Amino acid sequence: MKTRITELFGIEHPIMQGGMHYVGFAELAAAVSNAGGIGTITGLTQKTPADLANEIARCKDMTDKPFAVNLTFLPTVKSPDYPGYVKAIIEGGVKVVETAGRNPQEVLPYLKDAGIKVIHKCTSVRHALKAQSIGCDAVSVDGFECGGHPGEDDIPNMILLPRAQEELEIPFLASGGMADARSLVASLAMGADGINMGTRFMATKEAPIHDNVKQAILNATELDTRLVMRPLRNTERVMYNDATQKLLDKEEALGDKIKFEDIIEEVVGVYPKIMKEGKTDIGVWSCGMVVGLINDIPTCKELVDRIMNDANDLIKKRLAGLLS
Ligand SMILES: Cc1cc2nc3c(=O)[nH]c(=O)nc-3n(C[C@H](O)[C@H](O)[C@H](O)COP(=O)(O)O)c2cc1C
Repeated sequence: MKTRITELFGIEHPIMQGGMHYVGFAELAAAVSNAGGIGTITGLTQKTPADLANEIARCKDMTDKPFAVNLTFLPTVKSPDYPGYVKAIIEGGVKVVETAGRNPQEVLPYLKDAGIKVIHKCTSVRHALKAQSIGCDAVSVDGFECGGHPGEDDIPNMILLPRAQEELEIPFLASGGMADARSLVASLAMGADGINMGTRFMATKEAPIHDNVKQAILNATELDTRLVMRPLRNTERVMYNDATQKLLDKEEALGDKIKFEDIIEEVVGVYPKIMKEGKTDIGVWSCGMVVGLINDIPTCKELVDRIMNDANDLIKKRLAGLLS
């Protein structure tokens, strides 16, 4: 399949794996890229720019296809060494960067000068337009369904994607709630140039996370995510578990007096224990409503091939058949 995204990134299939904290290591990024999509290393999961340089080199050992690095701009007290991470990306010869969190204006000139394509992930049409106006090559539009941070507008993809098509000139990926060929074909119909998936890629053989996490995804239904941190205007969609309930209890008890310090136990430093050690209940972790559509643990290649083959059938048989 050829879309503006496959052309822009030089890939075979219009399927991206979005950056995921403590999930997006070289093994997963390389597996997605080797399957013909584009995988992403999560920059800030690497503790230092030197660690990121090393992760990029490991990924290059595993694939000769293009892969991306995610740079998330966090609302943290102590800012990470962004210039150092950008240097590691440029010197590592990375071809695509996925930015997220806030407008990437401060790093954009360095990335563009190095010939890197920048796709900015955002949750609203106005932020997508801003990304377009500052020179991003593409955007990834994350709907309300998405795992992670859906923003504060709560617009689902059935509305957000057609709205993005009405306003944008640059290519865009549909992100949030994407799992299979139905997701891809529907997104293309709504004007997108492909799909970005997070949660679905966690339940793959190559995702370097504990089996307990993959099993929790298989066991969950579309009813099993919750929004947390809304009172802090840092809304995150997470898997429902004991820690999520504890956090929600605190939100209810403290109301708008809640501060980040009140929920440190549930959110800070929990990812390694969840993703590596498999202690899935000790903290909150991002997860999309799409868990309701995930019922197996294929390889990335099996998943991507299935999406593309089924999309072919869906378009040529089911949809074309409706016309006759
Ligand atoms: C476990 C997990 C961790 C994530 N971490 C990040 C991150 O560090 N930076 C980022 O930009 N997006 C992050 N995301 C969001 C994904 O890149 C993607 O936009 C989102 O998962 C799409 O929604 P879906 O899960 O419904 O596919 C994360 C998502 C998950 C599930």
